[in-house]
Order: sequence, then structure tokens, then C-alpha cells
Amino acid sequence: MDHKAFIDANRERFLDELMQWLRIPSVSSDPNSKEAMAQAAEYLKNRFIEQGVDKVEIYPTEGHPIVYAEKITDPSKPTVLVYGHYDVQPPDPLDLWDSPPFEPVIKKTEEHPEGAIYARGSCDDKGQVYMHVKAFEIMAKDNDFPCNMKFMIEGEEEIGSVNLGKFCEEHKDMLKSDVILISDTGIIDNNTPSISTGLRGLSYVEVEVTGPNRDLHSGVYGGAVGNPINILAKMIASMHDENNHITIPGFYDKVEELSKEERSKMAEAPFSLDAYEKDLKIDSVYGEKDYSTLERASIRPTLDVNGIWGGYTGPGAKTVLPSKAFAKISMRLVPHQSSDEITELFSKHFKSIAPAGVKVEVHPHHGGEPVVTPTDSLEYKAAALAIVDTFGKEPIPQRGGGSIPIVALFESVLGVKSVLMGFGLDSDDIHSPNEHYGVFNFFKGIETILRFYPHYAELKK
Ligand code: BES
Ligand code: MN
Ligand code: MN
Repeated sequence: MDHKAFIDANRERFLDELMQWLRIPSVSSDPNSKEAMAQAAEYLKNRFIEQGVDKVEIYPTEGHPIVYAEKITDPSKPTVLVYGHYDVQPPDPLDLWDSPPFEPVIKKTEEHPEGAIYARGSCDDKGQVYMHVKAFEIMAKDNDFPCNMKFMIEGEEEIGSVNLGKFCEEHKDMLKSDVILISDTGIIDNNTPSISTGLRGLSYVEVEVTGPNRDLHSGVYGGAVGNPINILAKMIASMHDENNHITIPGFYDKVEELSKEERSKMAEAPFSLDAYEKDLKIDSVYGEKDYSTLERASIRPTLDVNGIWGGYTGPGAKTVLPSKAFAKISMRLVPHQSSDEITELFSKHFKSIAPAGVKVEVHPHHGGEPVVTPTDSLEYKAAALAIVDTFGKEPIPQRGGGSIPIVALFESVLGVKSVLMGFGLDSDDIHSPNEHYGVFNFFKGIETILRFYPHYAELKK
């Protein structure tokens, strides 16, 4: 039976298995999820065992465990390490989900006429990891492995892969490979395949502004004492100028400016501003002057407030002048910016603009470095050939806006480059309520992954 026929004959089972995995609420940031995390790792391990890997092991870490599996068929073949994550983002806010986040259902949508699986983690990243597990099953049933296979599926990507760097350092030999294959990104749309050629880095800080030593009556003290929320809002607002450039001194010093040619090449990618705005129900996009929407969301750095709180937010009105205000702020970074350096620049600047009357503190969270992946590498070519086989079209290289912090570390620690061949859509609502993953994308992904290996092995000869 050829691949396509086997996939067609096993569609329901493949989807059922994925949906069982999606039922396990593997939210890495939730301190009460230890058991669910272990269960999700175990589920994956058992699928690997069924499919006849040589070795599979769950490695505990100081945080959540890493699942490692391998099948080495011939030392002379190239070795591909598949990386992905089984942890998911918290499902909140729950009331905005049309169906419960850990009770997967398949529904048809405009973008997904063949249906999409609605569940937290369906696209990011359990659904995409599971394509690799099923591609493995198909190679295993014929015992036809063009490459040696290694899998490293972690449980802490959504919390910054805090223990994975150390794990890589400690298991360099075991992880030795020619290339790392990752499906944790997306394509432009189901008729327009693309390959991600970069990811942004990340700096993430939490800030705390303290005014008076206690909450005060906003009539008795209002007007006479600095209000930390007013002040925080002013400080945040000052960090973009009228052209939406970031005002932190030195912030752009290392930013790589793309050449005219590179920018016009980027502009050739199909993109409808109208459809983009319609999808988001906004009457206009908003962002840095002199850059296109695609550029703003990929090759330009950003500063965004992710959450802001303080004072009274309950029902009705309480007149209070709060003692404290907080915000969580992320900065997306582009090549040559360094996460530690940017965090430092932010911190210095933030403290320097605080007026007398408040104290400010900056607490850095996890970060990650940006990456760009070449388009003239063997792995890019193999991925492109695989996509031509299954989509019938050349993929468009496109830099992505999201971050996968471990990719830069793979390069610096393991000395191995990655190829980012993901199949999600921007409209799949990852990290949002109603996350979903197209059934088409899931099966197309399996087929494309299966085509990657023979092309890669052939090109490596
Ligand atoms: N899979 C995403 C990253 C992604 C999404 C890249 C879409 C390209 C396109 C990943 O799981 C993710 O969400 N990463 C986090 C970083 C992490 C440190 C929390 C991110 O980008 O916010
Ligand atoms: Mn992901
Ligand atoms: Mn994610």
C-alpha cells in the first residue's frame, strides 16, 4: 500500500489517537499540572513503543520531562532529530471557548472545509508533533527508513525551554544528528505553502511600580500623591514615539536592516491586507511607520504590554489610589539583537524615566535568541522538494514572527541547524480560545514529512 492509501485507510484512527492525547491538559505553566504532564509524556512514549522504536525514554528534568526516542537503521544514513513540544498554553479565558479546550471536537470552518480539530494544543504543538509520530508509523510498517530517526519532544517550550539547554549539553552524543526537523510554525494558507526561514527572539520582563506604602482614598489623597497606575501608563506610552519606533536608547543599534532587494522579495509573498483586517475585525492595522504589515510582524522588533494590573478591578466603583501597578512586557527581537542586552537596556531605561514619587523594579523572565535559517541548505531544499511533491507548488520562504528559543541553542550547543517545516495557519488561534488545527493540514503534514526523508537522504549522498 502506498503512503497515501495507508493514510486514507487509517484516517479515523490517526485522528482518534491525537484526540486522546489532546484530552490530557498538559499546561506547563500550571503548578498543578505535574501529573497531566507526566501522563502526556507517557502517552507519547507508549505510541513510540507501539510503533517499534529501538529505544524510548522519559528523561526527568527539574521541570517537566523530555521524551526521547530513536530508531537507528544504518550508521551510514543521515540522522534527523525531530524536535517538538507536548506542553500547551493555559486555556484561559475559558468562557470564550465554544467547546471545552480539552474535549477535542472536529468542526468545519471557512478556512478548513474538511474540518478542524478544536482543542488547546491541536496546532501548537501536539497536533504537529503527532504528524511525525504517524509518519514514523508509516515508515516503520514497511521498515523503510531513508534516515536514522531521533525524536526529542519536550514539555517546557511554552515556559521558555528552561531545562532543555542543559539536557542538550549533557546528551550531546545521544542527540548527534545532521539536521533538526521542527513542525511548530505555519504556512501562508492551504494553497500557498511556505517554509519559515527565521524566528524572532524574545525578551520578557515584569515591571512593578510602587507609590505610597498602602492603598489610599482617591479623594483624600488624589492629586497630591503619584498614582502608580497613571505613572506606569505614561511610562509605557512613552516607549513608542509618534512613528511607533521604540524609544529605548540603543534598542535598534544591532538590528539588521534588510536590503531593498530582500524587502522587495518579501513583498512578493501573497498577502491581502483587506483579508487580514477582516479576519481580525479591525478597520486598520497599526504599527511602525515605513514598514509593511508582514515586515512589522517578522523582520522588525517590537515592544508589547501583555498584561497590566493594579488597583480595583472588581464590580462597581471603588475609589482608591493604589499602592502598586504591574505590567508584563514582551519584546520580540530580530537577528543580532541579544535577549540579555535588550533586557538590560529596557531595565536601565525604565528606571531612568520613573518620576520622583515612585519606585520601580524590573524582573526579567525567560528569553530567547532570534534565528535565521538559510534557503540554500540541503535541509531547506529537501523540505522544498517534499512540499512540491505534496502541494504541487514551490514553497515561499518566509520569516516568522514567533519564537522557539531552543532553535538558537541547538545551533550553539549541538552545532546543528534546524529546518522549520510547520503546517499551521495564522488563523488557527494558537494561544487563544478556540485553537484549532486543520484536518487537511494534519494529513498533508504527514505526507510532506514522509517525503522529506528520501529527499534529504538523496541530497546528502
Ligand atoms: N509554536 C510557537 C512559536 C511560533 C508560532 C512560531 C507561530 C512561528 C509561528 C511556540 O510554541 C511559542 O508560542 N513560543 C513562544 C515563546 C515562548 C518562550 C513562550 C512565543 O513565541 O511566544
Ligand atoms: Mn509551539
Ligand atoms: Mn506556543
